[in-house]
Amino acid sequence: MKILGIETSCDETSVAIVENGRKVLANVIYSQIPLHAKTGGVVPEVAAREHVLKMIPVLDEALIKAKCDWDDIDAIAITHGPGLISSLIIGTQTANVISFVKNKILIPVQHIVGHIYSNWLYGADDNEITDEISFPALILTVSGGHNDMILMSGHHKFKVLGETLDDAAGEAFDKVARILGLGYPGGPAISKMAVNGDSARFKLPRSFLEKDSLNFSFSGLKTAVIREIRKYVTENGMKDESELDEQFIADMAASFQEAVSDVFVYKVLEALKQNPKVKEVMFAGGVSANTRIRSAITEALPLDVKFRFPKSISYCTDNAAMIAAAGYSLFKLHPKRYKPSTNIVPTTSFEIY
Ligand code: KG4
Ligand code: ZN
Repeated sequence: MKILGIETSCDETSVAIVENGRKVLANVIYSQIPLHAKTGGVVPEVAAREHVLKMIPVLDEALIKAKCDWDDIDAIAITHGPGLISSLIIGTQTANVISFVKNKILIPVQHIVGHIYSNWLYGADDNEITDEISFPALILTVSGGHNDMILMSGHHKFKVLGETLDDAAGEAFDKVARILGLGYPGGPAISKMAVNGDSARFKLPRSFLEKDSLNFSFSGLKTAVIREIRKYVTENGMKDESELDEQFIADMAASFQEAVSDVFVYKVLEALKQNPKVKEVMFAGGVSANTRIRSAITEALPLDVKFRFPKSISYCTDNAAMIAAAGYSLFKLHPKRYKPSTNIVPTTSFEIY
């Protein structure tokens, strides 16, 4: 079964074609990053206008790359939320129109569920992957807009064990990077700088919250970083942060990344303690691209618990292949539920299903 996925929840216009929920035949991602770098973040109106311009070219490119025409496509999976409403409208309306004109089944997919299913994907050039993911699994989804600890007991059987009480880790990466003058998006820039930094130079707080809490909080860490930077700027008679030296930036990037990493390791181990039957831990969302956090979790996990993260960086950040994968498993679970439709509308709900 070939599903065409569409994702426009934030600042990526993406269309993918995925076979049987796992094999990626095409995953075209048009990133608006250069456009938003000028403002240091996404301006919703600007993002929506860009989606309008790029939607059809990206759609055409995906079909060409996958060597498919419309007759080969069995269904459309579309992100209907959460995300920026003005961005989601472009994707959902495109999907509604295609469903009507081409008479295709339409499957709405929750964006965070899409991130979870990025762990099922592999590339058309990779060896066929046949191993099934064992349940129950624990999922750490970390992006710019959300940060959750989820227990997955079967396909689309989710229980949210914890979530962020303030900033998501990706958002903290972006804000810290902005103050350090590293640009947008912050995650890749911080992890690159951190390679040459001393993670022990700054003693930054780790917010573990109450002993058995699986919630997250990163705003205190962000404030502590800002305080350290201001102190350094003042003590060294600098005009502002633009005069920070390279070594300071690298050390701060490494110290910040280590603090985030320690929190994730602690929370994953705590979640395993509370759910001893868990067989796998999966990492998903834009921050799952971070190699330091991946290796810290890998080292900390007991040997009998498997650790997975998406097989390609392009499956970590927003992409349509993960939406197609999630759409496939929804369709397999409820084959009669989904029909051609023109009624899919955006939602801001964070409910995971
Ligand atoms: O999942 P995503 O593409 O979009 C949302 O749904 O929010 O995640 C984007 C976030 C950004 O905050 C970005 O800074 C972060 O993922 N990110 C990273 C890395 N690559 C992207 N954070 C840490 N390390 C990375 N290598
Ligand atoms: Zn996302």
